[in-house]
Amino acid sequence: MAMEIAATGRAVPEQRVTNDDLAKRIDTSDEWIRSHTGIGSRHIAGEHTACSDLALEAAKQALSMAAEREGRTPEAAALSLDLILVATATPDHYGTPSTACLIQGRLGAAEAAAMDITAGCTGFIYGLEAAAGLLAISGARKRALVIGSEILTRFTNWDDRGTCVLFGDGAGAALLEKTTAPAEGPEKRGLLRTILGADGSGAEHLIIRRGGSRLPYKPGETVDIPPHIDMNGQAVYNFAVKAVTGIIEKLLREEKITIDDISLIVPHQANARIVQAAGKRLGIPEKKFFLNIEEYANTSSASIPLALDELNRSGKLRRGDLIMTIGFGGGLTCGGNLIIW
Ligand code: COA
Repeated sequence: MAMEIAATGRAVPEQRVTNDDLAKRIDTSDEWIRSHTGIGSRHIAGEHTACSDLALEAAKQALSMAAEREGRTPEAAALSLDLILVATATPDHYGTPSTACLIQGRLGAAEAAAMDITAGCTGFIYGLEAAAGLLAISGARKRALVIGSEILTRFTNWDDRGTCVLFGDGAGAALLEKTTAPAEGPEKRGLLRTILGADGSGAEHLIIRRGGSRLPYKPGETVDIPPHIDMNGQAVYNFAVKAVTGIIEKLLREEKITIDDISLIVPHQANARIVQAAGKRLGIPEKKFFLNIEEYANTSSASIPLALDELNRSGKLRRGDLIMTIGFGGGLTCGGNLIIW
């Protein structure tokens, strides 16, 4: 049975920091950042905001959207959840408790199982497939909330201009449920096909090195900078262009369709140049890709659900549209979904 995205939500911190703001603090410029990445600004969470705070806001929005349609309260919609998955690289706490458990508690989703997914910026795509599988395997489970949420700016080395200009904070949520739509014909909708991939030999290229069991902080050690993202930009760039082209080709081939059948591609928003390079290689016009990176920068696992909610709420996704998501990032990981909206 197919699973459909029945509702969406998003949360973005109020504080908006432009490239010009950054250029006052570090050796960079609006021109460099825009021309190398397509980024114009990023939103940064206040010091008391954690991953679960943004995730909760996005979750509540998605539940309110569903509750309104169903004529019940958001609290009742929360009680209808069987599963909560949070994809994040920047959880409230490392190890335990999962951020998903924090959301489960704060939503009062008493019937829901909860766990986190660590798959870098591909986390939401992994999350959708994991949720779809867990719903499919049990007749009792009907609804899952899949959230991507990140406070990346707290794990950013603000002295490294090569990485600190790239990241922002945000969250997006999608309510996935067993569809009541017919399995075939023009009314068919839902998650059609997913590809997931990983290349652990590239783990070093995008890594938070300190703070885990491999390199813990030691008692008495002076911590000059907190755990932060180290990145080999060129290696990640090359992997990303290959991943985007490979996944688009594979999804089209496996589903026996052409790019003309796709209404919109929603890629992970890491760098507009990655998307442009992949589009050029495949001869896909730029307007086929949805980009909001200019406003939000790279929000990792939040970027795709955040974009989906923006598109959904602005009426740019119509029932029956075939959309493709593409993700890539730390791990290294990559993946993509084909979804009939
Ligand atoms: N402002 C100004 N100059 C900068 C800069 C900044 N923010 N960051 C780097 N530079 C400088 C470098 O110091 C270097 O100067 P030099 O030639 O004098 O040594 C020059 O710009 C070129 O640096 P380079 O790292 O080669 O740039 P690039 O064209 O490879 O672009 C990235 C860098 C990070 C934008 C690019 O590699 C990239 O997007 N990689 C993928 C990153 C990504 O998407 N990560 C997340 C994946 S989920």
